[in-house]
Amino acid sequence: MEQPTFKLVTIEDYDRIKSLWHRAGLQSRLKGRDSFVMMQQQMEANPDLFIGAFSDDRMIGFVIGSFDGRLKGWINRLSVDPEYRRLGIAQELIARVEEALEKRGITLFCALIESSNIESLNLFRKIGYVPHDDILYVSRRKSQDI
Ligand SMILES: CC(C)(COP(=O)(O)OP(=O)(O)OC[C@H]1O[C@@H](n2cnc3c(N)ncnc32)[C@H](O)[C@@H]1OP(=O)(O)O)[C@@H](O)C(=O)NCCC(=O)NCCS
Repeated sequence: MEQPTFKLVTIEDYDRIKSLWHRAGLQSRLKGRDSFVMMQQQMEANPDLFIGAFSDDRMIGFVIGSFDGRLKGWINRLSVDPEYRRLGIAQELIARVEEALEKRGITLFCALIESSNIESLNLFRKIGYVPHDDILYVSRRKSQDI
């Protein structure tokens, strides 16, 4: 296999992103924060936080970085095409998005992982993220689409 290339993606890649999420089995909120309009706004605000991995012209990996007002960085929507897994693509995407977040002064990186997602848990553990078994994620949704 050719070495994957990594580059910023734009809203022009929206259909390819959706297709990758589908292939990767990642749940997305296409009527909410993953909609075309919302993604376009997010990309315009922080274009360097949307990074794709490509084999030729095929998108085989993707990640979104985000941050909150207290300088905590988040790794979101990480996905790798099933045909290209265990090649270090996710690790490279995370490294690149962490670097972009660090340029904003962010040095604390976090991710939300479903407890049954062993692949992702192993991945984050491998690169130094520490699970917090004593913390429960709670949320209140004004809409199921968000
Ligand atoms: C999780 C995911 C992004 C990993 O992508 P990837 O490119 O295959 O990951 P990497 O090759 O960088 O893997 C690095 C490490 O992750 C762990 N890992 C990845 N896949 C694994 C698997 N199937 N079983 C066990 N550990 C696994 C291993 O520690 C691996 O290191 P190793 O290959 O040296 O053993 C990919 O499986 C995926 O897209 N899953 C579906 C979407 C998803 O769950 N996203 C994360 C949401 S939090």
